[in-house]
Amino acid sequence: MRIIEAEGISKHYGEGEALVKSVDQVTLSIQAHEITAIVGKSGSGKTTLLHILGGLEPPDAGTVRVLGRSLYELPDSRRTRFRREHIGFIFQKFQLIPELTVRQNIRLPLEVAGKKVDRELEAELLSLLDLEDRVDFYPHQLSGGGQQRTAIARALLVKPELVLADEPTGNIDQEAGAALLEFIRESHRRFGQTFVVVTHDPEVAAMAHRRIFIRDGRVSEEIFQENCSGEGGGEQPEAAQGLPWKFSAEGRAEL
Ligand SMILES: Nc1ncnc2c1ncn2[C@@H]1O[C@H](COP(=O)(O)OP(=O)(O)OP(=O)(O)O)[C@@H](O)[C@H]1O
Ligand SMILES: [Mg+2]
Repeated sequence: MRIIEAEGISKHYGEGEALVKSVDQVTLSIQAHEITAIVGKSGSGKTTLLHILGGLEPPDAGTVRVLGRSLYELPDSRRTRFRREHIGFIFQKFQLIPELTVRQNIRLPLEVAGKKVDRELEAELLSLLDLEDRVDFYPHQLSGGGQQRTAIARALLVKPELVLADEPTGNIDQEAGAALLEFIRESHRRFGQTFVVVTHDPEVAAMAHRRIFIRDGRVSEEIFQENCSGEGGGEQPEAAQGLPWKFSAEGRAEL
């Protein structure tokens, strides 16, 4: 089943000489219950694309269907509600509420939706993300990694069907990153969630079932790997050139 179907989406900024085609006529689909990695150089349009797919940014052209619903045909308030119910978003820039503590930030989406907090999952996330000692801190009292880990906990506590994550390991150390990947894998097994992860991180790309390469706002290649532990495949996509890593003959991503 396709959980996201995007057709002919474009988003341009500026005009004339300054025109930037952040997303340029992209058609793609995301399979439900898969982990998809979106990979591409800085400025290639990954964040813009993810925001459009997640109902956060209307495209200039094209349509986005999530769970069969045409997102941008919904009135704003219904799109917001739909997003809250079905999509967990981990922002590249975290977007925590400065006036709220870690715990309040993490619980906010559930409170807004009038849902109960799963205390067990909350404790698990706080421990996994090493936030137990920080629950009463405000975002400005956290490191960049701490803010990122809070943003991750906030998105996952909702147990959304669809998790869109923008560079979730960009600001955290390798150990925390590895723990997060293990959790994503486990969460995917346990809840059958669908993950779309924008990443520069070879470990993340290696564990994905599918990798979508973005170049200059366009999808340049798509690779499906049967075995997402990194075996099989071995293709060296053109779009991977210029990235700080490549795929080995076994399909493993290497720095
Ligand atoms: N609000 C905006 N106004 C003008 N230009 C924008 C805006 N948002 C994005 N862009 C431009 O669109 C292009 C793609 O940006 P985007 O943030 O999507 O890239 P990215 O692939 O996520 O990069 P990174 O890996 O550095 O996060 C860039 O050239 C960026 O400057
Ligand atoms: Mg980005």
